[in-house]
Formats: sequence, structure tokens, C-alpha cells
Amino acid sequence: TEPLRIGLAGLGTVGTGVVRMLQTHPDLLAARAGRPIEITAVSARSRRRDRGIDLSAYAWEDDPVALAKRDDVDLVVEVMGGENGPARATALAALEGGKHFVTANKAMMARHGTSLAAVAEAKGVALRFEAAVAGGIPVVKALTEGLAGNAIGRVMGVLNGTCNYILTRMQAEDAPYEQVLEAAQRLGYAEADPSFDVGGIDAAQKLALLATIAFGAPVDLESMIVEGIERVSLADIEHAAELGYRIKLLGVAQVTGEALEARMQPCLVPAGSPIGQLEGVTNMVVIEGDFVGRIVLSGPGAGEGPTASAIVGDIVDIARGLIIPPFGRPSASLIPAARPGVGAQ
Ligand code: HSE
Repeated sequence: TEPLRIGLAGLGTVGTGVVRMLQTHPDLLAARAGRPIEITAVSARSRRRDRGIDLSAYAWEDDPVALAKRDDVDLVVEVMGGENGPARATALAALEGGKHFVTANKAMMARHGTSLAAVAEAKGVALRFEAAVAGGIPVVKALTEGLAGNAIGRVMGVLNGTCNYILTRMQAEDAPYEQVLEAAQRLGYAEADPSFDVGGIDAAQKLALLATIAFGAPVDLESMIVEGIERVSLADIEHAAELGYRIKLLGVAQVTGEALEARMQPCLVPAGSPIGQLEGVTNMVVIEGDFVGRIVLSGPGAGEGPTASAIVGDIVDIARGLIIPPFGRPSASLIPAARPGVGAQ
């Protein structure tokens, strides 16, 4: 059988993890996918940096768009990041060239996801982004596949590992904010610009993607209330603890009346509740469907292994021939997104 040939754009923490996973499990993946999965070409800013992986078998491209246009690439994996710029150019080059596209890029998907999905659908190729939401938790698959028969009433969750790590370590160790943020950066959890984490933007982008899938209505950041954890102090955390609460950066998207409301804010949650007990870089997503009831998914929301796991899961699905519109067909039942402060409670 023909192999599925991968072009990998980006060799940071996540890209390195993807290489490692594909190199670790070739037989397992070929058995599950029904065909071999092979990297043919890679692209990154620095060719010489030592990443602790062997790249010698792969062609090198300095330009990710050139990588996306190669004849020996069937599927492009984009793990460079950035809302526009090279990431978007690479996505468009891949999809318009009839290549499958897998990305971890929540900023680009939250902004341009529905238009990229339209290109993918026109070309009959797959667009997948499991790694963009909640790291290793297969929540996009849960919503688009396993729970596809349900009308969704609410999606909520803790969607930024860095913030959860900071809040739990501040609580447990009385450690100051700056010190734990630095630790999160050293561990490779934080975004290149950590203000995206602590400002709630990263989590809000993920919630926007989940809400767009769950409710069939495009949700953008401008229609959400977004507040980060920069103003949460040690004293706030201690006062909350005295009253039996934890402070969590919690996102909620739900239909209220006629409108869809989505917000990402620091919230008080009971210390004994599943969300209250969530520690470290763990994420948690709660989905309420009309037939299934309440589903709770939790697991590592960031880091090399979990993010690679999500990407390789998408690759295996595509190798099996699964091509589905990632947001459904939103025009079927549009729910208008509420503007902040309008109809939001
Ligand atoms: N910086 C993100 C987080 C990584 O901390 O959750 C995954 O998007």
C-alpha cells in the first residue's frame, strides 16, 4: 500500500514530539492506519539546532510554503504558530494544492478556521486541529464524532495549562506569580509570548473553536468576554481557599435564550469539585449533550508528548481516509453570538 507522506513545518517542542512519535511507533501506526506513515520533508527556522532527533532521512526546506508544495508530500503538519504570516500561507498552499492539513495553531484556526475549512472542502481534503484545543485530550473528536448525535447545551472547561499550573503552584507553595510563570516557560508549556496564556487569549481561542464546533455558529474572540489571570493575587487565592474555593481560569459557552454566550474568566469553584481539584498543566472539558448528559474529559493540556499525540491521531485518521468537515456545515442552524454585555449573564 502507498505510504502517507508527511511534510512537517516547524520543529519546536511540538514538531520535535511529532517526529519522535512517528519514529517510535512506525509499525503500530501502519497497522492502525492500514498504510505506512512517513515523513518526507521538514522545515524550520534553524537547520543546525540540536533537537535530539535524527532528521537525516528527510528533505529540508527553508520555506514552509515550498514544503507545502512538494510533490512528495500528501499531508502538511503545521506547528509553527502565528495567526497570519507563514502559518497561514502554508495552510493555504497546502489546501489549495489538494493536500491534507493538520495544525496545532489555535490562533490561526480561531481566526481563519471556517474559511480554511471551506477551501479544504472545495478541494476534498482534510483539515484537522485536535492539537489546537486542550493538548492531548481528544475533545475535537469527541464533539465532531462521538457526540455528533447530540444537541449541545453547554461546553465549559479549563483550557490553558500554563494558567492552571500557575494558579495551583501559587496556591500550594505561596509562590509569587512571576516565579511560577518562569517555571512554566522553562517546561515548554507557555506560548512564545506568555501574555497570550496569562491574558486568557490562548484559552479563549480554544473555547471559540469548541463553541464553533458544538453550536454550529462561528464564534470569534471579539464576541467573547475574555479576562486573564494577571490580576489574581496570592491574597485572592488565599481568601478563596479559606472559603473552600479555588480560583480557576474557566471558560463557558452556552446558548442563553436566542444567543450564544461565550466567556473566559477567573472563577471561584468549590475546592472539592472536579475542576477545583485540577492540578498542574491539566485541562478539563465538560460537555452537556441532550441525549448523553454530561461528559467530563481531562488530561494534559500542553507539552511535547500530549500535543504530538493529538497531531498523530489526526494523521492516522486521515491515513484511514476519514475526511469530515471540521465545523460541520454551520449555515444549517446559525445561532447569533452575543456581543459582550448583551444578553450575557
Ligand atoms: N500555552 C498553552 C497552554 C499550550 O499552556 O495550555 C497549549 O495550547
